Amino acid sequence: MKALIVYYSMYGHIHRMAEAVAEGVKSVPGATAEMRRVPETLQLEVLQDMGAVEAQKKFAHVPVCTVDELSTADAIIFGTPTRFGNMCGQMRQFLDATGGLWMNGALVGKVGSVFTSSATQHGGQESTILSFHITLLHQGMIIVGLPYAFQGQMRIDEITGGSPYGASTIAGGQGERMPSLNELEAARYQGKHVATIASKLVR
Ligand SMILES: Cc1cc2nc3c(=O)[nH]c(=O)nc-3n(C[C@H](O)[C@H](O)[C@H](O)COP(=O)(O)O)c2cc1C
Repeated sequence: MKALIVYYSMYGHIHRMAEAVAEGVKSVPGATAEMRRVPETLQLEVLQDMGAVEAQKKFAHVPVCTVDELSTADAIIFGTPTRFGNMCGQMRQFLDATGGLWMNGALVGKVGSVFTSSATQHGGQESTILSFHITLLHQGMIIVGLPYAFQGQMRIDEITGGSPYGASTIAGGQGERMPSLNELEAARYQGKHVATIASKLVR
């Protein structure tokens, strides 16, 4: 069972969550996880203005995803920071290049799952994941979320991301907060859950 973790990260929060998702996938016997970034679409000057250039160097070693390699995976777990309550433009542009895969039904029956990050606690995590699911359904994918069997999403003793729709983290207005232990645990759980289901489908 091969899982691709396909993500965009501007300041590293989604990258950190993607690492935890990969750990969760790999904890399932026979499952492999490969991390991929979607191509950057913003100009260097814009990235500099946004203070993203230094941050992005930390994960520049992660290979950039090609559209065609999506069809080589049994499961694809997508990670995107929220942009006005939706997926980021880089991810949208990447997905908009998958029309050929759609024509051939190349992703039909594969498992799809989404995790996210936002600056604020109620800044659109659920809308980002749920609206992302629409594209996955058009591609014929089988959507997997983060069940309440992950009890960490019941917590109210600390601020935390995570919903039945998928793992998430709250980055803070200045990006000053990195994923908490609970949020990373949610990401691991989601990776393991996706890999467990996809392994059964492969068999
Ligand atoms: C153009 C733009 C729009 C954003 N929209 C939202 C938003 O609607 N709600 C929110 O809480 N955060 C919003 N953010 C903050 C990002 O979601 C946050 O920087 C990101 O989750 C951090 O993850 P990353 O380090 O992996 O990029 C926005 C950021 C940018 C640049």
